[in-house]
Amino acid sequence: MSAPASASPAIRNPHFDDLRVVWSDEYSGQYQPVAYDQQFDDQWRLFLDRATGFCDHTGVETSDEYIDDRIAELTGVRDYLWKAKWGPLAGIAARLSGRAARQERRGVGGRLWLEPKFPLDFFKGKRCLDAGCGAGRWTKTLASLGANMKSIDVSRHGLESTKRFNQDVEKLSLFELDTRPDLHNAFDFTICWGVVMCTHDPRRAFDLVAKTVKPGGSLYLMVYAPTYHASQQVCDWRMRYHRECRTFDEKLKFAYSVADRPENAINLLDMLNTFYNWTIPQDVCFEWFRANGFTDVVLLNRNEPHACGLHVLGRKA
Ligand SMILES: C[S@@+](CC[C@H](N)C(=O)[O-])C[C@H]1O[C@@H](n2cnc3c(N)ncnc32)[C@H](O)[C@@H]1O
Repeated sequence: MSAPASASPAIRNPHFDDLRVVWSDEYSGQYQPVAYDQQFDDQWRLFLDRATGFCDHTGVETSDEYIDDRIAELTGVRDYLWKAKWGPLAGIAARLSGRAARQERRGVGGRLWLEPKFPLDFFKGKRCLDAGCGAGRWTKTLASLGANMKSIDVSRHGLESTKRFNQDVEKLSLFELDTRPDLHNAFDFTICWGVVMCTHDPRRAFDLVAKTVKPGGSLYLMVYAPTYHASQQVCDWRMRYHRECRTFDEKLKFAYSVADRPENAINLLDMLNTFYNWTIPQDVCFEWFRANGFTDVVLLNRNEPHACGLHVLGRKA
């Protein structure tokens, strides 16, 4: 899987060459892998460097304040880590430290509308996999709720970041999971957030991730919906980014130029830099779960207005 990361003329791009942006399982096997270890690495490096727009953002930040927001999105319980730290002084400490006032700033990048929520003790003592962990925000969130985590990714800087709060971190591609029977039927809960749609074969990637879940365990998948990411605006930006920007500096400048504000730059680079940026219809996504033996499949963000993504949870029968 070591083809060039960016728009190599040798590799057919479904979005630019075939005008396919909405995934259909018929496309499985038709496209080639690219260098997945490079596609997100720059944004995790910029996060570690604390560059504007690449830190203090819901899509990446791993500081406790942001992890508390992720915990609230999953469980509905607010200020979990903060209250554990400050006890009865939590309210006054929030006011004096300016934490409460930073609430709105912490929304840059968008909040999640997940429903139903997971019970607070849902993850406690469970063996969980963060597949495509990035800088590790979900690894840290689930570990904070008592999960025993394994985190995999292919980005060096993503793994370097995640290692700060999990020892069990491994450089492993989703597409290598079939060669790892030790990871099959091994996890009570697998989260695969924003990964499979950035690959040449989201269906194959999903099937491999689904293998990691134990019978009775759950899988939480986030993929892009055929809404914003299938829009002409996004397709035009991606075409210009891949065809006109030559150096990384030019690419970064372009991402900042189309961001609504510099503090949101990671959201733009994230969708521009990947060679593949598929959107997945809900029925296709639900069928993936069913075909892999999952039941009780639910859309967790069904009440979200203008949803860009599908948040789907299923339980393996
Ligand atoms: C949009 S980021 C999401 C990161 C993380 N799940 C989160 O929600 O913060 C996608 C991540 O998937 C990783 N990734 C992409 N292709 C992969 C592959 N084939 N195998 C494993 N990880 C991959 C990237 O390196 C990147 O860290």
